[in-house]
Amino acid sequence: MNENYPKHVAVIMDGNGRWAKTRGLPRIQGHKAGAESVRRLLRGARKFGIRWLTLYAFSIENWSRPEAEVSGLMRLLTTFLAQNRNVLDEEQIRLRISGRRSDLPPNVEAALAKTEAETAAYTGPQLIICLSYGGRTEIAQAARRIAEDVKNGILAPEQVDEAAIAARLYLPDVPDPDLIIRTSGEQRISNFLLWQCAYSEFVFLPEPWPEFTEDSLQRALDIFASRNRRFGGIVDSHGSSAQPAT
Ligand code: IPE
Ligand code: IPE
Ligand code: MG
Repeated sequence: MNENYPKHVAVIMDGNGRWAKTRGLPRIQGHKAGAESVRRLLRGARKFGIRWLTLYAFSIENWSRPEAEVSGLMRLLTTFLAQNRNVLDEEQIRLRISGRRSDLPPNVEAALAKTEAETAAYTGPQLIICLSYGGRTEIAQAARRIAEDVKNGILAPEQVDEAAIAARLYLPDVPDPDLIIRTSGEQRISNFLLWQCAYSEFVFLPEPWPEFTEDSLQRALDIFASRNRRFGGIVDSHGSSAQPAT
């Protein structure tokens, strides 16, 4: 294990639909193959000492897709949860959800909440799945909570600073991602972790998500380890700065 490897890796798992299309398969088959990549990634995360793994699984904007694809994805999510539960137990992985969870179908939300509760005390890596997630929505809800706290006299306007906003994001104790990987050759953020990505390193991989392997992960980690992070200063700093936000 390389000490310059990131502690928090976030992944924009993109390219399932195009992968399926090139094989003449329906898009949902691409999502199914993508679930296998997540399994491989979980194994790799342990091997490379990743402490937080954040996966962009479904954006707020993804609700605009055809109903059949959306419901197929929601079904796949519950299957994935059931099929990978033993991995969470064996590796002591704690599951957490980030996003506007009230948008999720009640049975999906219930299954996720159950697994979250049952893995809450696990001390291994954290697996954070972003569902109905939008970075702007997350910041807007933090702003709304700040407004309520000011109105209720809990917070003074002059106390509204970066820490006050960070403390009201979905998972305030999780440090910012060191590395954000996006597959399928697209080079954009698509409303992912807008607040948290301020100083993240980005690695764009050409392969579509279903073709992501442990080797792809290692490639991205090695690129990260070879970079200098300066955080606006002049001193070179390798590797992870992961500190829980306060
Ligand atoms: C990523 O793959 C998975 C989700 C957004 C749910 P896509 O479904 O976006 O695949 P492409 O980009 O259309 O190939
Ligand atoms: C980003 O991928 C969202 C997820 C991977 C869940 P999209 O495929 O939705 O993003 P755009 O539409 O290409 O920007
Ligand atoms: Mg896409």
